[in-house]
Amino acid sequence: MLEKLKAYALKNGVPIVREESGKLLYKECEKRQPKRILEIGTAIGYSGILMLSAAKEAHLTTIEKDDNMINLARQNFDAAGLTNRVTLYHEDAIVTLEQLSITGEKFDFIFLDGAKGQYIKYLPYLKQMLNKGGLLFADDIYFHGLVKQEGIIPHKNRSLVNNLRKFISALESDKDLETEFLDLEDGISISRFKATK
Ligand SMILES: C[S@@+](CC[C@H](N)C(=O)[O-])C[C@H]1O[C@@H](n2cnc3c(N)ncnc32)[C@H](O)[C@@H]1O
Repeated sequence: MLEKLKAYALKNGVPIVREESGKLLYKECEKRQPKRILEIGTAIGYSGILMLSAAKEAHLTTIEKDDNMINLARQNFDAAGLTNRVTLYHEDAIVTLEQLSITGEKFDFIFLDGAKGQYIKYLPYLKQMLNKGGLLFADDIYFHGLVKQEGIIPHKNRSLVNNLRKFISALESDKDLETEFLDLEDGISISRFKATK
């Protein structure tokens, strides 16, 4: 199933988690066996299915704003026999995050893979929703290397790159989080919410 989705994504230009980052995501879910997973950026459901196959008892709450993507994701979760383990939100992630934070939802594992320029805006919500000891796994934090590049950033990417830099420094300075930054593919951060405060 995952191979089929990967081939579809490649053929149709759907950006799914890359090979090594996907393996790491799988490994973390397998090791930690989270019960509740939140994902921002469902696309066609590839990473969702990957995480649920690693964390056998987990329920996935996943957010996607694109009509076409969410329809494909729904079909793919169904074909994988995972419909009853998935809650799909079809709207802008910030709207869902506001709602979930009001209802006091908590998660053991969060996969952040939506609009890169919004990561900094999502962070306070994600932190509030992450259980102590839980993990925030963020993908593409270096945005094709531009985030680490010195000098002038092309105008069209400037605000996205600045926002990712703000996200990275917010993680670095957050005393509740213990963050590891990995130079793997497009860059990954893995933040653990410290168990004691
Ligand atoms: C990199 S793709 C996700 C890939 C997926 N996690 C995987 O690895 O299989 C990012 C997805 O986030 C969605 N997205 C972008 N901005 C969004 C927003 N503001 N709210 C919700 N979804 C958004 C895009 O439509 C896209 O499908």
